[in-house]
Amino acid sequence: MDKAIELSDGHVIPRLGVGVWQIPDEDTAGVVSSAIKAGYRLIDGAFIYGNEVGMGKGVEQSGVDRGELFITSKVWNSEQGYDEARKAVEDSLERIGLDYLDLCLIHWPCATKNQYVETWRALIDAQKDGQVRSIGVSNFDPDHLDRIIGETGVLPVLNQIEVNPRLVQTAMRAENAKRNIVSQAWTPLGQLASFDAPAIQAICNRLGRSPAQVILRWHLQQGVSVIPRSTDLSRLKQNQEIWDFELTEKDMVAISALDEGVRCGPDPAEFEDE
Ligand SMILES: NC(=O)c1ccc[n+]([C@@H]2O[C@H](COP(=O)([O-])OP(=O)(O)OC[C@H]3O[C@@H](n4cnc5c(N)ncnc54)[C@H](OP(=O)(O)O)[C@@H]3O)[C@@H](O)[C@H]2O)c1
Repeated sequence: MDKAIELSDGHVIPRLGVGVWQIPDEDTAGVVSSAIKAGYRLIDGAFIYGNEVGMGKGVEQSGVDRGELFITSKVWNSEQGYDEARKAVEDSLERIGLDYLDLCLIHWPCATKNQYVETWRALIDAQKDGQVRSIGVSNFDPDHLDRIIGETGVLPVLNQIEVNPRLVQTAMRAENAKRNIVSQAWTPLGQLASFDAPAIQAICNRLGRSPAQVILRWHLQQGVSVIPRSTDLSRLKQNQEIWDFELTEKDMVAISALDEGVRCGPDPAEFEDE
């Protein structure tokens, strides 16, 4: 399997990255630089995580060329609207200390607020101005996707959604794929809730792999990009060792059968928090 996916705009994103949600700003530089030194190239951040400064320091401390890295940030709900989102991109760039983002996402649609089309126009212009290489969305339902595509003619390259064995998201992943949008899984380990499931344990025992490795491999084999978070170097490394084994079709079905439609995070149809 190729370790990268070509996006519809021609840019390329690593299939595996590291997420930095819930990592305190003062710890983020250490985690990000360790992850990059261990071989990660995709770092998934957001304004609301409150650690973009640490993320930028980690990028710098890693010593790896900016051009080799793929840095994502996201426009938060309170930053929606054309002018607000243009400023949000500038502010994120300043905090991280970069002159461009590889990917910028609208974090949540906030449909009641009804500003996501204007926010999308801001990202389109930020891309035209070279502040962002690729633009995408997160937590968008098919209706939200169709509206931004219909009103602007510009396709988001990626939709970051919650996916894990308890929330397989077959329909939403198919909706993304139908539109040539890459699905990227947030909370890919599902708060470890399926680690002890007999189906996962049986595969782990047969292959000599950990539950995290088996679940991450399940994501990859479904064509999904993953951004697991760990603040522990040995687990960061463990989560990378997922390229040298393969799950059978039976394994894939057994893991997908753990689907309960249970979310770890909020429902995108309802979430509007500022
Ligand atoms: N777009 C959105 O709305 C949205 C929402 C939520 C998250 N995200 C993004 O998705 C990223 C990942 O999601 P997440 O952080 O919620 O959860 P996650 O990556 O599914 O799981 C993180 C948890 O798993 C543990 N862990 C990691 N590797 C492990 C391993 N090999 N064995 C055992 N435990 C392991 C971590 O603990 P240790 O640190 O102790 O290893 C941590 O408690 C976030 O960091 C963020 O970038 C996006």
